[in-house]
Amino acid sequence: TTRILTGITTTGTPHLGNYAGAIRPAILASQVDNVESFYFLADYHALIKCDDPARIARSRLEIAATWLAGGLDTERATFYRQSDIPEITELTWLLTCVAGKGLLNRAHAYKAAVDQNEAAGLDPDAGVTMGLFSYPVLMAADILIFNANKVPVGRDQVQHVEMARDIGQRFNHLFGKGRDFFAMPEAVIEEDVATLPGLDGRKMSKSYDNTIPLFSSSKELKSAISRIVTDSKLPGEAKDPDNSHLFTLYQAFSTHAEQLSMREDLQAGLAWGEAKERLFSLLDEQLAEPRERYHDLLAKPDDLEDILQAGAVKARKVATPFLQELREAVGLRSFS
Ligand code: TYM
Repeated sequence: TTRILTGITTTGTPHLGNYAGAIRPAILASQVDNVESFYFLADYHALIKCDDPARIARSRLEIAATWLAGGLDTERATFYRQSDIPEITELTWLLTCVAGKGLLNRAHAYKAAVDQNEAAGLDPDAGVTMGLFSYPVLMAADILIFNANKVPVGRDQVQHVEMARDIGQRFNHLFGKGRDFFAMPEAVIEEDVATLPGLDGRKMSKSYDNTIPLFSSSKELKSAISRIVTDSKLPGEAKDPDNSHLFTLYQAFSTHAEQLSMREDLQAGLAWGEAKERLFSLLDEQLAEPRERYHDLLAKPDDLEDILQAGAVKARKVATPFLQELREAVGLRSFS
């Protein structure tokens, strides 16, 4: 069997990029035979970038409801909240003690913060917490505690999955004595949506304030789509689909046939306004049903909580005995 695992940080409202880059492929993958899937709400990761408890709580509900509204079958998949699995935090420490600081110095998120500080003439580490610095170690623990083989993510997370391999390998080497405790995880990237662009063409991301929320109302969806930046070609002028993030968005949600005809029509001079209209209909139609389920689910937070609790029990059946082996391997007392 193959184990698939992925997580979403609980800091905001899910957007089209989270859905197309991670949630949709993960749900599809969980429906295949001989696959065990582990999907979770990364709420410890949320603490790294958010000190607003209300926002984290709200985001947890929204992201949980998104997975379920998107069709995740929680009988098949193991669906849980990271902070309900204490084995993850304990493994984080075991891994912290083998992870090279030099490796973590190269992590994108940390480097971006340092670059920004340096550009502003500040101390390189100004405002950088150990949480941000160690972020990839926590993520390695998420992945390795369940021995995941495949990790569906957007392009921005690939480096973290590679670091999980490095750290896991080092642990195997130091403590395995011929046995590989950890399988080597691989990032699974959907080429078409690995980096879904936002309204302004940069990666769709809350930090750029350029997102299209996944389950906004039809009206909000329409208004967001109207703000997608396009070039200044007039109706009738040929447009280049391969240089249009509107087309990239369209592509991520349409069939091959729909893509071909949109491509041809743009090249033949379809007006941007028309193209936006088409993107809107496409998304609105596809999202209408799950959007309704999403709002029903959000209205019942206690039910969502029950589902997460059941998922945590299932997840710990795997994590608890495995962590005992790891404790023993490094010379700590096992609880068995
Ligand atoms: P997060 O919460 O930032 O994003 C969740 C997932 O959505 C993908 N994504 C995108 N994909 C395509 N286009 C975009 N514009 C876009 N924006 C976001 C991300 O690549 C990600 O797959 N550290 C992770 C969460 C995490 C995790 C894990 C993931 C914690 N532990 C273990 C996998 C395995 C994060 O912050 O993702």
